[in-house]
Formats: sequence, structure tokens, C-alpha cells
Amino acid sequence: MQETIAFDIYGTLINTQGITGMLEKYAGYHAGAFSVLWRQKQLEYSFRRGLMRHYRDFAVCTSQALDYALLTFGISLSREEKNGLLGAYRELPVFDDVKEGLEQVNTTGFRLYAFSNGKASDVAHLLDHAGISGYFNDIVSVDEVQSFKPDPAVYRHFLLRSSSQPGNTWLVSSNPFDVLGAAAVGMKTVWVRRTSSAVMDPWEIEQDLTIEKLEELAPAIENYRSAHSS
Ligand code: 2OP
Repeated sequence: MQETIAFDIYGTLINTQGITGMLEKYAGYHAGAFSVLWRQKQLEYSFRRGLMRHYRDFAVCTSQALDYALLTFGISLSREEKNGLLGAYRELPVFDDVKEGLEQVNTTGFRLYAFSNGKASDVAHLLDHAGISGYFNDIVSVDEVQSFKPDPAVYRHFLLRSSSQPGNTWLVSSNPFDVLGAAAVGMKTVWVRRTSSAVMDPWEIEQDLTIEKLEELAPAIENYRSAHSS
């Protein structure tokens, strides 16, 4: 049976810290800390909305998290300035290794999907802007089930939508909560350790593979297959 790879988007293919340069205009030397807080709050809001069953799409989490970060840093922006930042967030850059990594894995016969907390239209815009949409069979968004990662429902929905079996499906993500969420429903997992300071959650569930660059993905899965073929 053909195997499937689900690529997480924000933080894995798309660099959510790619907005730091633009933030310097408003936050000065706090731009890096501002950007990290913005991302942390965006994810926290998605977790809380999932638990509360109070779904609003991921762009709302992003916008409200920006408001929180602005309040925290005591920065006041006009509507135009805030819209400028949110517009830039819709066109965040990809990491340098993404095109080569996708190119390699595309030749190995996997079916590739984008699988994200973001709405499909927002993800499509990001992938188009980065020039990588052609690698993917489809985009599966949590918006289709009105919940967020790591709700098991969103991973099961992915499997249904892509007609995949958990044992033949890889989730590739830099986000530990995403890796563990996928592993919990039986999917195979690759953690992309994007920085040397990134730490995997020390839970009783673990990722199957760890890579540092997407160029390592195709050979890592090939080695795994060889080691596990009977
Ligand atoms: C994504 O789903 C988790 O933000 C990450 O794209």
C-alpha cells in the first residue's frame, strides 16, 4: 500500500519567526521575544479553544495572540499597522531546506499532504507564495472538523481524508505536541528538530525518527523501512 506523509506547516515548513525583522520597527530589540510570545500565545489559544469546544479559525488565534503580545509589551499599533503584520504572517517564508527536502521525498513514491491548524485557503496562500504547492496532493485543515491539534479527532480526520492507514502514514512536524498527538493515534512520526535548543517532551510516547533538516527525511524513512522490513 502506498505510504502517506502529512507535513505540518507553521514552524515545520514555514518559519513563524520570519516576521521578526518586521517587528523590529515596533518592538526594537524586543522583536525576537515578541515574536516568540506571539507564536506561544497563538498555540495556547488553539489548545484552549479545542478544549473549550469554542472553535474560531486559526487566523483568529493569530490575531488575538498578536493583541496579547502588543498589550504585554505595551505597544500600541494603528489598525493599518496591525493589518500589515497579519498580512505579513500570511506570507511567512519557508525554511531554507524545504524545497530540496520536498524534492527528494517527492521522488520516493509517497503521497504528500499539507496538514495544518491553518485554514486551507491560508495554507494554500502560504504554499503558493513559497512556490511549493505543486508538491502536495492536497491540503487537509483542522477547520474541516472545527478543532485543533492535538485533538485525536483531527488526526483521524486526516487519515479519513487521505484514505490512509495510521501504520502507513508519517506525520512530519517540528512541534512536539503535534508529533505526540499523531503518535497517540498510531501514526508514524518524524520530529524535525529545527534548533539545537529544541527539546522533545519527555512523555511515555516518543517519535519514531528525529531529523534536523528536511533533506534528511527521505534517507531517514528509507533506513527505517529497511530496519523494519521482515
Ligand atoms: C500547524 O498546524 C501546528 O501550527 C502548526 O501548522
